[in-house]
Amino acid sequence: MPSKVVVIDYGSQVTQLIARRIREAGVYSEIHSCAVGAAEVAAMEPGAIILSGGPASVGEPDAPSLDPGLLEIGVPILGICYGMQLLAGELGGTLARSLTREYGPAELTLTAPSPLWKGVEERTRVWMSHGDRVTAPPPGFVVTGRTPTLDIAAMADEKRRIYAVQFHPEVHHTERGEPMLRNFLFEVAKLPADWSMASFRERVVREMAEQVGDRHVVCALSGGVDSTVTAALLNEAIGRRLHCIFVDNGLLRLGEAEEVSGYLREHFDLDLVLVDAADRFLSRLAGVTDPEEKRKIIGRTFIEIFDEQAGRLPRVDFLAQGTLYPDVIESVSHKGPSAVIKSHHNVGGLPETMQLKLIEPLRELFKDEVRKVALEMGMPDSIVHRHPFPGPGLAIRVLGEITPERLRIVREADRIVQDVLRESGWHGKVWQGFAVLLPLRTVGVMGDGRTYDHVVALRAVESVDAMTADWARLPHEVLALMSSRIINQVKGVNRVVYDISPKPPSTIEWE
Ligand code: XMP
Repeated sequence: MPSKVVVIDYGSQVTQLIARRIREAGVYSEIHSCAVGAAEVAAMEPGAIILSGGPASVGEPDAPSLDPGLLEIGVPILGICYGMQLLAGELGGTLARSLTREYGPAELTLTAPSPLWKGVEERTRVWMSHGDRVTAPPPGFVVTGRTPTLDIAAMADEKRRIYAVQFHPEVHHTERGEPMLRNFLFEVAKLPADWSMASFRERVVREMAEQVGDRHVVCALSGGVDSTVTAALLNEAIGRRLHCIFVDNGLLRLGEAEEVSGYLREHFDLDLVLVDAADRFLSRLAGVTDPEEKRKIIGRTFIEIFDEQAGRLPRVDFLAQGTLYPDVIESVSHKGPSAVIKSHHNVGGLPETMQLKLIEPLRELFKDEVRKVALEMGMPDSIVHRHPFPGPGLAIRVLGEITPERLRIVREADRIVQDVLRESGWHGKVWQGFAVLLPLRTVGVMGDGRTYDHVVALRAVESVDAMTADWARLPHEVLALMSSRIINQVKGVNRVVYDISPKPPSTIEWE
């Protein structure tokens, strides 16, 4: 295992960023709920611990507290924001409550040397988001930084290797946040930078080969980068004892099934079945307009087909899934699972009678890290940088009734959106970009004639994890190109509109 930094999550909106910055510096990092006990953390053998920020007030009823055992583990600790206040409260400093929050930039002045400050100028801009403040440091601590409104903006006890900052070094608005975190990792904790996608690939392939032994694994391919990388890693680990099933539900993008399955077949010695089930899906969806009903039909039909196909394989013990780290954190967060807004269909709902154990090689990775593994494995750009695509596919992008003709329109429009995004260099800058066919018709004029045709809506969003998103500020020329090509080339469309709604309150998909 690579060395590891454990981040204890006290509920800040930006806790994930801490883990990301650490990994970007080449050190593996995991987030754990603040409900985890010190003994459990010690068993993880961390090389350092970071206490995150959080919205609570230390000492308030229900406020998460610091497990003092964490301080006994003997590894360096960095408290950020609420983490700093917890350290101050626990170690004998004093705190002041505040009803107002300081939010935004502040100028930090370094007031005493600290290894965290190596290479950082005496005055530097930091990002604050806090209410309470430390008014006296605990015994043994030196105040190492202040701002115009905070006498104690940073403090350190070098003997015990405990450091604390009131601001957020993990956000980009803190100008020198990155060197500060790197200093904590490399100057204080003296960790090796041993987290790379090459070492990850080598380790998971070895671990999966050991875990599976001479048994068999089944994997559902969706066309996306996550399941493609999952299958490729397993193929490296166990060869043809991995069995892949790719269900073409008739709701995929133009050429998607062929592109991904063709690539895998060409480059890997893979047992892959491509099931053409378009008719079964489309006949069951005929006349259905309710989005949740569509999802349920697609989910049920998928499971039925997967079950049929799996029944034709030799005895299988494992189901491989492309679960990513944000899904894992979401399910362990002390805040509890977030409310289900849409019932997302995935293979998690397979019949229990199949009794398969899960194998999830990507559960440690963020999406951008999965893409790095894909690059490391030599996958082409069209697979590495494929935008996320919903399980129910184009069914939830054809609003209202799904017919072959309406699917054709959305498919052709989508292809133009993808092409223009790539040609303009915007494909890699947006999280997702796609076309939606609206369930209405509007009047237009073509040549001398009146038309009464379909409307296509364009959606392109920026996001880091799809939990929140904002509409992408695509240049007018890019939108103009999409619009003119769609209207000119896609038969039956006479109007194109652009969706300028953020999530929340909208969602990324329209259904
Ligand atoms: P929403 O529309 O909820 O989408 O903002 C968030 C992300 O999830 C994708 N999405 C789905 N993925 N099954 C999936 O596997 C679904 O039913 C589904 N609905 C939305 C969406 O494309 C976006 O990336």
